[in-house]
Amino acid sequence: MNIFEEIESEVRSYSRSFPTVFTTAKNARLQSRDGKSYIDFLAGAGTLNYGHNNDYLKQPLLDYIQADGITHGLDMYTEAKEGFLNAFNDIIMKPRDLDYKVQFTGPTGTNAVEVALKIARKDKGRTGIVSFTNGYHGCTLGSQAVTGNKGQRAGAVVSLGDVTRIPYDDYGDQAEDFMGLRLLDQMLSDPGSGVEIPAGVIAETVQGEGGLNAARMEWLQELEALCRKYDMLLIIDDIQAGCGRTGTFFSFEPAGIKPDIVTLSKSLSGYGLPFAVTLLRPDLDHWEPAEHNGTFRGNNLAFITARVALEKYWQDDKLMQDVKEKAGLLEQRFGDICKRFDGELKLKGRGMMRGIEVENGDIASQICEEAFANGLAVETSGSWGQVVKCLCPLTIPMADLKEGLDILEKAFAKVLPEAKAKAS
Ligand SMILES: Cc1ncc(COP(=O)(O)O)c(C=O)c1O
Repeated sequence: MNIFEEIESEVRSYSRSFPTVFTTAKNARLQSRDGKSYIDFLAGAGTLNYGHNNDYLKQPLLDYIQADGITHGLDMYTEAKEGFLNAFNDIIMKPRDLDYKVQFTGPTGTNAVEVALKIARKDKGRTGIVSFTNGYHGCTLGSQAVTGNKGQRAGAVVSLGDVTRIPYDDYGDQAEDFMGLRLLDQMLSDPGSGVEIPAGVIAETVQGEGGLNAARMEWLQELEALCRKYDMLLIIDDIQAGCGRTGTFFSFEPAGIKPDIVTLSKSLSGYGLPFAVTLLRPDLDHWEPAEHNGTFRGNNLAFITARVALEKYWQDDKLMQDVKEKAGLLEQRFGDICKRFDGELKLKGRGMMRGIEVENGDIASQICEEAFANGLAVETSGSWGQVVKCLCPLTIPMADLKEGLDILEKAFAKVLPEAKAKAS
């Protein structure tokens, strides 16, 4: 038995799907101890948008460490933080006409979500939150309460209350278009519905863990309108879909909406370093000093790499042009796979957050297993793990992207007929 199986908790998960010991990584390639190279369609579940050990970010980080720059500073002012805030303000917020205060939360996504929920409840003085079927927002209790995943909710073993769950865009048979939002509207206007006006609504624009369900822009606009109608705060959880994954820095940009609160984490540091923020409308900033606290709020090493990532990739549209091209290729190749197995498969997602839904989770994991055996790390998502999910680095070289897609297509071609034969 190896040391992982001997003393690491049974809660480990990715290591079960990718049972090898990794040693080094560069951009979209992972290297294992037994000498194999894997193309990475996993990218730290959306954390490595700029690839592994990105050279543009690595050298400034090394220079900062070498010069004894502050590594830990609680939430004190540091030059590293100043640099990040200036870059975020000048490169991201101002050009988009966005005016948010930046709250540094504990360093993982779920911390940013907890803060977002607290802010909404504090501002409105109401306890309720609306969230959506198949939404995923993290595993601490507040985030878990707005998350759909049954297995993880069961792991909480406390009541996960104060949440009204509504069907997401295109959930169920959608007898009526925008069914969930219409239902919410009706329930909020009906004094007999038993649903009180909540403090806020939390949504992803593309549900990453929930199966790559991509909301339509009109749906997002309607959601915003509903928030305004009932004085609820709109929280967009952009932890997975943000930082360029769908083709714009914020995934909600094409909808033209202005959320009241936004959460960012995963690829924000640019280098895979833990880092999360909650962006809030300035008038929602009712905090007393230290009213929400945490030892690791703001990560100075991440401030350095996050600033350099913004300066390198977001001052012109080169990266987003590249993403557009790669997203086009993904759509075409995944579309071809869907056509090849006509009627059985469904193309999911948006931008470079793409996948294919198959009949069930068993088939999806067999496809991922087959792909891994042939040098591609790719995972599943969705209620039953039925979606093969591609989240490669945005910076993946075209040759690696094509090779990875070839491996994946072969895995579909091998597993699907076998599964069909077994079923008949
Ligand atoms: C949309 C979204 N929100 C929140 C989280 C939680 O982030 P973390 O795992 O860093 O706590 C995730 C993680 O996958 C996510 O995809």
